[in-house]
Amino acid sequence: LTGELFFDAARDLLPRVEERMRSQTNGDQPGIRAALLHLLSSGGKRIRPALTLITGRMLGADTERLVTLAAAIELLHTATLVHDDLIDGSLVRRGIPTLNAQWSSAATVLTGDFIFARAAKLSAETNSVPAMRLFAETLATIVNGEIAQLFEGRGIASREHYYQRIYAKTASLFETATTTVAMISPVSDVIRERVRCYGYEIGMAFQIVDDILDFTSDQTTLGKPVASDLRQGLVTLPVLYYQESHSGDADLQAALRESDCDEACFQRLVTAIRQSGAITQAFEEARQFVARGVAALAELPDSPERWALIDLAEYIIDRRL
Ligand code: IPE
Ligand code: IPE
Ligand code: MG
Ligand code: MG
Repeated sequence: LTGELFFDAARDLLPRVEERMRSQTNGDQPGIRAALLHLLSSGGKRIRPALTLITGRMLGADTERLVTLAAAIELLHTATLVHDDLIDGSLVRRGIPTLNAQWSSAATVLTGDFIFARAAKLSAETNSVPAMRLFAETLATIVNGEIAQLFEGRGIASREHYYQRIYAKTASLFETATTTVAMISPVSDVIRERVRCYGYEIGMAFQIVDDILDFTSDQTTLGKPVASDLRQGLVTLPVLYYQESHSGDADLQAALRESDCDEACFQRLVTAIRQSGAITQAFEEARQFVARGVAALAELPDSPERWALIDLAEYIIDRRL
């Protein structure tokens, strides 16, 4: 991400965000401190802080509050990943072992909780009650989505369901990033609505592309396991498109029904989906979300940050990681 042009619009502030996140463990239990430092040093694209900082600069937010907000958003994201990897039993993220690969579930859950608590504290330090309220609401939305996914069972396949799920798990946080920035900036409700819309649309696209990369990429590039969604019975957009044109596919039916799709069946299915038009169709849909997001910025005054946000939106489609 640091190689991307749009990143220049946030580059000078990002070290302050990193520092703010690291300083959230001063004086805590050494194990927790080590875990958080390990998580923070493992990289991550930092797209949410970049989005937050660039939007804030565009809207004239106070720098100190903006840095605090960006740190709050990224810590919330970090905590959801800790819990997500535990729930999914994923052993690798950002190319290194996850916490749950090294620690007990109890220690992993508690570390996630600790990071959530620190994220909440940072959000309070923005001194904006509306921003805090939205922040808390978003955490509830994400957890609701995760629980729904757990209880839904395998193979639930509808477009409607899919959109709800990717909103809850991913787009809600992008939307909250841009909306809370507007809440701490001297702007009108109209502007706030525009940047909210932008955050929502690119957040939806971001998760669609994540779901595509789960089929088309590999673990070395992504730093996390691939082909894992379908294995868990999770129906994503490429699968929905594939299903439309291959509803009789025996492997697909096996994968969606129960666990009677063995390793060879999964391999065949992943290859078939990769080679079908489903990937292109899913990309096309992600592009439409991005186009709507960019359109929401059209009425805003011209500025270098507005262009950076347009670049950022396009990066979401082109990204390999
Ligand atoms: C991963 O998010 C989880 C999703 C919402 C798809 P990122 O792809 O932003 O993960 P990092 O922070 O760069 O590792
Ligand atoms: C992100 O979705 C989960 C949350 C943000 C809670 P994914 O499950 O698709 O993320 P990855 O693919 O593991 O990064
Ligand atoms: Mg996951
Ligand atoms: Mg994924």
